[in-house]
Amino acid sequence: MKSNPEVLIIFYTRRGNTAKMAEAIAEGAKESGANVKFLRIADDIPMEIVQKDENWLQIHNDLEKKYPTSDEFSIIKEMPNADAIVFGSPTRFGNMAHEMKKLWDLSTELWFTGKLIGKVGGVFTGASSVHGGQEVTALSMMMPMLHQGMVIVGPSYDTKELHESGSPYGPSTIVGPNSDQIKEVDLVVARAFGSKIAKVASKLAD
Ligand SMILES: Cc1cc2nc3c(=O)[nH]c(=O)nc-3n(C[C@H](O)[C@H](O)[C@H](O)COP(=O)(O)O)c2cc1C
Repeated sequence: MKSNPEVLIIFYTRRGNTAKMAEAIAEGAKESGANVKFLRIADDIPMEIVQKDENWLQIHNDLEKKYPTSDEFSIIKEMPNADAIVFGSPTRFGNMAHEMKKLWDLSTELWFTGKLIGKVGGVFTGASSVHGGQEVTALSMMMPMLHQGMVIVGPSYDTKELHESGSPYGPSTIVGPNSDQIKEVDLVVARAFGSKIAKVASKLAD
């Protein structure tokens, strides 16, 4: 039992919505006693493309200021220090973004050394359409976690808002490309999930 478990939230975002969900998960985790740290994976997109769109450039610069990015190997180095790790990625063609997949594809050292075995983990996502593949994304994000020996935790139906938002596989939100307002039910599920992650991590931490 560890009353203040270390929760690491690793996320990738292009338009900032995944960051907003990460904040809600962090809020819930902190309310349940966790120390929370964010690590953001950089967008693998040429700046010439971003610069052509004023709105996108503004979002890009705001994200850089608020959540400076870390390279994959620094993130991988931090992972064994956490008691729980939550991964967030937007849905991309019914799957996690390649930036998140790349992180896992560079993590063989963690697998060889078994450093994530028994660590609590969870996932969250977002998509722009109601049946845009968010559940498939959440489930496929779990595969590398299971290979690494993590203990996966999802939201549960004692959060009644789970009937309206997200899934038992992970919180999610439905947002368009222009950073629409995230619904309060999405944030409620995300906060409750963060709290559950912290509580389980607190019980399982060494
Ligand atoms: C290349 C690409 C693929 C996408 N594929 C899907 C998809 O399969 N289903 C869907 O509903 N939305 C899809 N989207 C929309 C994003 O999931 C949505 O805008 C995202 O959740 C926003 O997250 P962010 O603000 O954190 O970047 C896609 C967006 C991009 C850029």
